[in-house]
Amino acid sequence: MMEITIKTDNLLQTPSDLCVLGVFEDAPLPAEIAGLLEPADFTGKAKQTLLLYPRGAVAPRRLLLIGLGKHADASADTIRQAGALAVQQARTLQVAAFTMGASIDMPLTPEVVAQALAEGLELGAYRYWHYRTGLTAAQTFEVQRADLFTSSANAQAARAGVAAGQIIGRGVEFARDLVNSPGYAMTPARMGDEAVELGQRAGLKVTVLNKAQLTEQGFGGILTVGQGSANDPRFIVMEYGTAGAGKPTICLVGKGLTFDSGGLSLKPADAMDTMKSDMGGAAAVFGAMQAVAGLKLPLHVVGLVSSAENMPSSTAYRPGDIIKTLSGKTIEVLNTDAEGRIILADALFYAQRYNPAAIVELSTLTGAIVIALGPHATGLFATDQALADKLSRAGEASSERVWQFPMWPEYHEMVKSEIADLKNIGGRPAGSITAGTFLAAFVGDYPFAHLDIAATGWAASPIKAYESQGGTGVGVRLLTEFLRHYA
Ligand code: BES
Ligand code: ZN
Ligand code: ZN
Repeated sequence: MMEITIKTDNLLQTPSDLCVLGVFEDAPLPAEIAGLLEPADFTGKAKQTLLLYPRGAVAPRRLLLIGLGKHADASADTIRQAGALAVQQARTLQVAAFTMGASIDMPLTPEVVAQALAEGLELGAYRYWHYRTGLTAAQTFEVQRADLFTSSANAQAARAGVAAGQIIGRGVEFARDLVNSPGYAMTPARMGDEAVELGQRAGLKVTVLNKAQLTEQGFGGILTVGQGSANDPRFIVMEYGTAGAGKPTICLVGKGLTFDSGGLSLKPADAMDTMKSDMGGAAAVFGAMQAVAGLKLPLHVVGLVSSAENMPSSTAYRPGDIIKTLSGKTIEVLNTDAEGRIILADALFYAQRYNPAAIVELSTLTGAIVIALGPHATGLFATDQALADKLSRAGEASSERVWQFPMWPEYHEMVKSEIADLKNIGGRPAGSITAGTFLAAFVGDYPFAHLDIAATGWAASPIKAYESQGGTGVGVRLLTEFLRHYA
């Protein structure tokens, strides 16, 4: 965990082992530095870097220039990536503490800049190496501190931004850890334990329902999907704050499939090898709950997670089975691999008891969304346009983009069954939308948004500098941004 401080001294006159300087494409370099390099070698294009040894021209021993692109185009995401590049370079150089600043002010508020930078510094240092052995001291080296330089006028806002960015960054890391943990370790029971521990450290009220309690209370969806596994299912309730005047209740719901083999409708091997990540929606809810508590938002936020393991066995549910869900509605199972919507049906129905202002649900729900959007956006499906617009704005602001799909009633016809209320697949056409309308059947009239993170929850290879291979923690930044503006 890195310490990040705000300083108001002169960056280039402050001695350090490494000074990182953000430089714009269309702004001149500081005079002391301009003479140290051939101008053509470094243009300031976004993400370009150049390491210099100034040899007394300025106070720092090393100078890392990071391109920020054109001044007018500067975005929080460029800054977030610059933070990640900075901490990664510091680690490579084995510098325990470094200084950082920009050649001129950003065209963004100091709070936004500092938050993005802090997120980048946290996330850029993230790696999941719990299972690696024989690591050298150079490999395990961690940067301890970053001192960020700004004007005294901006210092207070920058401190607030850093504090928020660190809280949010740690929420993302928590979510990544949960997703990266192997399926045998991150069982539904372990998810329940994680929730209890989160509740203790963040001050949440946490309830975990075990199999006997689920049976007693009629959680038919979760129980049925989980019945083929030796690892019993759980339903998790995490509550932050209390409802009250001016404090609306928001329910966050997550799919917590700790491993999705497909069940008897078994997945092919190459589609199964990342399926420990099928609890990415739940991980986002965990991370967001941690961040919301850390930020002390004036809201009532309820996190609900359905957790089960989808396995093929002699006790597994079958195609043709008919499930009675918590809502009383029945589902005809035609493919045991479309299990997410079944466990979510119980959680979404349960959410209604809080009389929420909004229900926002996240799940690694469909392969079809991978085809539609690829890794560059999360699919958004909403029954309420004001809610959808809030999430879209939060997506832009957090650089966790969402893209909205229609929810016309014609689509819902595709998941109606002859012999039950619903069937769990609607065919290949519009597969992500029919999954979304299926979920919406369980929320009553409450404003509802479903976020399909099947393509964004896992990174086969990182795209942004602050990403890492494996779980992305997607949803934490988005939800936190959404909730901060809701508050
Ligand atoms: N967990 C998968 C969806 C998924 C696919 C997540 C790829 C991440 C990457 C989900 O449970 C699933 O298997 N969905 C099926 C539904 C189909 C049978 C209607 C799918 O999308 O193929
Ligand atoms: Zn599945
Ligand atoms: Zn699944």
